[in-house]
Amino acid sequence: MTAPGEQKMWGGRFERGPDASFYEFERSWSFDRRMLPQELALDRAWARAIVAAGILSEEEGQKIATTLGEIALRAQTDLAWLAASPAEDVHHFVESALIEKLGALGAKLHTGRSRNEMVATEFRMYVREAAQDLRRALASLERAIAAQAEKNLQTPMPGTTHMQHAQPILLSHWLLAHGEAFHRDAERLAAAAARADDCPLGSGALAGCAFPLDRNALARDLGFSRTTANSLDAVSDRDFALEFLFALSTLAMHLSRLAEDFVLFASPEFAFIELPDEFSTGSSLMPQKKNPDAWELIRGKTGRIYGSLVALLTTCKGLPSSYQRDLQEDKEPLFSAHDQALSMVQIAAATLAATRFRADRLCQAAQDPALVATEVADYLVTFGVPFREAHEIVGKVLRAAEQEGISIREMPMERLREFSPAFGPSLSTALTLESALARRATRGGTAPGAVRSALQDFKARLAKLEENP
Ligand code: ARG
Repeated sequence: MTAPGEQKMWGGRFERGPDASFYEFERSWSFDRRMLPQELALDRAWARAIVAAGILSEEEGQKIATTLGEIALRAQTDLAWLAASPAEDVHHFVESALIEKLGALGAKLHTGRSRNEMVATEFRMYVREAAQDLRRALASLERAIAAQAEKNLQTPMPGTTHMQHAQPILLSHWLLAHGEAFHRDAERLAAAAARADDCPLGSGALAGCAFPLDRNALARDLGFSRTTANSLDAVSDRDFALEFLFALSTLAMHLSRLAEDFVLFASPEFAFIELPDEFSTGSSLMPQKKNPDAWELIRGKTGRIYGSLVALLTTCKGLPSSYQRDLQEDKEPLFSAHDQALSMVQIAAATLAATRFRADRLCQAAQDPALVATEVADYLVTFGVPFREAHEIVGKVLRAAEQEGISIREMPMERLREFSPAFGPSLSTALTLESALARRATRGGTAPGAVRSALQDFKARLAKLEENP
């Protein structure tokens, strides 16, 4: 490799080379080298396209393709070569390597193209692949959720709103609630990938390509479904990256909510789960501690995913039309959000799979009579009491029970009938946990049958995601 100032991609009109500190400041090679696979694929496709446009001969195209293959191979094994390169960016790196090997022929590849369209194209390719990576990881998380739901299908637990006991639900229902959110995340990632599926190549620096390029063939060659419609928009559009970051932010938010549930469930007050040793840590001071750090870190890392979204939104705000160098700031936040989100999903899947739910504790907590208060009101309704009145009666019954220090289940029938003559012997059946669960049999409800079919439906959608991430 040549040092900056010797073999540059620009500089003919400059008298002096760049200041060393400025060169370090403006270079992106340290992070955009991550797009080397996309750069090399683009270069190969571009060589084919300009052969087809009559700019290179078949033989020249072949030589370039072979040399690109050699560069790809060396890049895989010779990491010191990459680390020592003084290249300005990933595009400069490959062009310099080509010229070093092929001389004048290497210098022909950049005919008709601009780094502005190249970086837009490679970034889109990167986002499409990253979205697929994450969809694969989400499929594993959903698989872990489905397996736990299956294993704990009939285990009851207290359902809460405002963190107060509300109505009994099944643990499997709670698990699938999180599963639904993650499935939407997978769909959002697919939508972001679809948004990135237009190929900018042929847009030039901003105004289009002056050579007779077959843009459709070039797009197809790189696996894109479409070409972008406006060259000016194509070099400056980063909506696809924002949509990807929004999908990751929502995913991280969902993970943080799952994490919060697990952190609570692991506390001695709940004791609904046993933390897996492999995914927990101890305290350097307090020997008794086993901490839910996996979940806390997942919850904590959510902040920086949001940070990436806000960083890119802010970079794009108020930019004039067309490419601006500010846009180079798009990559680091997105790469980092990709890495973090991927490991968050993977750790969540593994920790969830290794967690043991304490059915004894969950059942016991689900027996809280307060959870069947709605059942008592519904019971009165079946005897013709208007619901609002029934609600009032049950409130009074519960208050009396509290004062008398007994549960509503223990209250004698004569005492109950003082509140309403509608109370009768069939009440005891209505007050069981089983009945409270079984009555919620509408689609999406927590009755065992409804959850069983929800699980089947979830697994069918998951199988599709696994087949086509
Ligand atoms: N490294 C640049 C980026 O990431 C590539 C495009 C440079 N274009 C330019 N006109 N300086 O955005």
